[in-house]
Amino acid sequence: MIFTVNTFFTLLIKTLPSIKPLKWINHFQQKTCCSTFNSFTIYLGHPQTEQSMNMSYKMKGNVTMKKITIVGTGHVGLVTGVCFAEIGHQVTCYDINAERIEQLQKGICPFFEPELDRLLESNLNKGRVSFTNNEQEAFQHVEIIYVTVGTPPLADGSVDLQYIKEAARIIGENITNDSIVVTKSTVPIGTNKQIKAIIESFLSEGIKVDIVSNPEFLREGSAIYDTLQADRIIIGAESAIAARVVEEINKPFNRPIFKTDLNSAEMIKYAANAFLAAKISFINEVANICEEVEANIEDVSFGMGLDSRIGNHHLKAGIGYGGSCFPKDIKALLDIASQHLKSFDMLKTVIDVNNKQQHLLIDKAIQQYGSLKGKNVALLGLAFKPNTDDIRESSAITLARHLIDEGAVITAYDPKAIEKTKQVLGNQIQYASTIESALTEKEMAFIATDWDEIKDFQLGRYEELMKTPILLDGRNCYPLKEVKNYGIDYISIGRHAVLKGNAFDR
Ligand SMILES: NC(=O)c1ccc[n+]([C@@H]2O[C@H](COP(=O)([O-])OP(=O)(O)OC[C@H]3O[C@@H](n4cnc5c(N)ncnc54)[C@H](O)[C@@H]3O)[C@@H](O)[C@H]2O)c1
Repeated sequence: MIFTVNTFFTLLIKTLPSIKPLKWINHFQQKTCCSTFNSFTIYLGHPQTEQSMNMSYKMKGNVTMKKITIVGTGHVGLVTGVCFAEIGHQVTCYDINAERIEQLQKGICPFFEPELDRLLESNLNKGRVSFTNNEQEAFQHVEIIYVTVGTPPLADGSVDLQYIKEAARIIGENITNDSIVVTKSTVPIGTNKQIKAIIESFLSEGIKVDIVSNPEFLREGSAIYDTLQADRIIIGAESAIAARVVEEINKPFNRPIFKTDLNSAEMIKYAANAFLAAKISFINEVANICEEVEANIEDVSFGMGLDSRIGNHHLKAGIGYGGSCFPKDIKALLDIASQHLKSFDMLKTVIDVNNKQQHLLIDKAIQQYGSLKGKNVALLGLAFKPNTDDIRESSAITLARHLIDEGAVITAYDPKAIEKTKQVLGNQIQYASTIESALTEKEMAFIATDWDEIKDFQLGRYEELMKTPILLDGRNCYPLKEVKNYGIDYISIGRHAVLKGNAFDR
């Protein structure tokens, strides 16, 4: 059944290739009956035709509703929690952050993720999801526990497992019956076995735990879509029974499930992220050569991506990858390799290329226009990608820091990430509430995040608003053909510069 329905979705997705995932989800509903559910319906809106498609399908047999506790209410935990609630499970989300729990109890999302607030509200109202920072409430009489706490990097690139270990201790001390602990956090190979050992060291006598690795692949900005429509669900386990239970929990999503051992599941996550980051650094290197040989990287990527062996994802040239996962996971994989006396030279290059790429726009600006000291500069975009307010390891923030180092006076705009940026950059830069006010009277503008609002901003407005219309586009938002119609100097990535002779007043 899983593969039958997946084939249907695959066909559907292939027939609608240009649709952005988030715009698909207009409404997501399911029907449950008491403790089992056997069908649910997804209403997907087609953004181009505005017609909605009603897809309803039935599971073979009944799927049993599970009582699940999620440890951690971050991007992964909260999305997982509300999506499990949405398909009928009874979910308790536990976090040590009391303030966050208080907000969530009121239906307030602690971060921006499209569709999340709506699903949170509806499942709170239905009583299918609840939030607590009380251990007993979270762990007593629960059979399934998902661990989704953070695994940030340490200074040497290795993974800080303090939150994982603390979560394991709390679980061990508080569970009252046999349980399955499922790790969604990205953890080094062998960590799930350590988690099990820690839990067991705190368990009351007679209670047993099984451990399952179920790495998470959602992308911030399309996290709900990615959970409901995951390309695959990886289940790594020592116990076939535990793996079967996790498979049952996920069955209503009707996505492909691949079962393997614990270590391989942990490795799949790191290898997948490293491969995607390598694709980005690869295309950025190609882009830099394109500029020299007068080729257009947008056409080159498109042509390459038409090859089904390559595919068009993560082939967009720009100012490098960022975010809470790629940078730390790649460093972690390097560290894992070195612990086993293996070097992973290719990954070192992936990181070096990315670091250079994050500085590229400033190098180009200085080369073309001279020093940026004292120049009034607009920075459009701060989040590490569109549709999120997450600025962790954002290339935009790196760009801002480099601009500060060059002595530029920065006014930044982002639709969602200004508050989080204030916490790290404070008054080192100024903040604007609209693109227009960020650009007004500026001598240069940088595009760092390709929000739709920024991509759709009319080119003529740069000319009208800026003192000198010089635009450095780190996300290739505008077609060169269009740019040529305006009096703007336009420098992008992997494409020739369009120069109209603008210069700073010196
Ligand atoms: N963010 C993503 O896009 C993404 C995607 C795939 C995988 N991951 C992985 O998932 C994990 C979580 O990432 P995230 O972005 O959701 O993290 P996050 O930082 O957004 O959230 C972590 C949450 O865990 C809570 N926490 C910490 N220790 C706790 C404890 N002992 N008990 C209960 N709660 C605790 C924190 O208060 C916080 O709310 C990481 O390993 C990450 O690499 C993240």
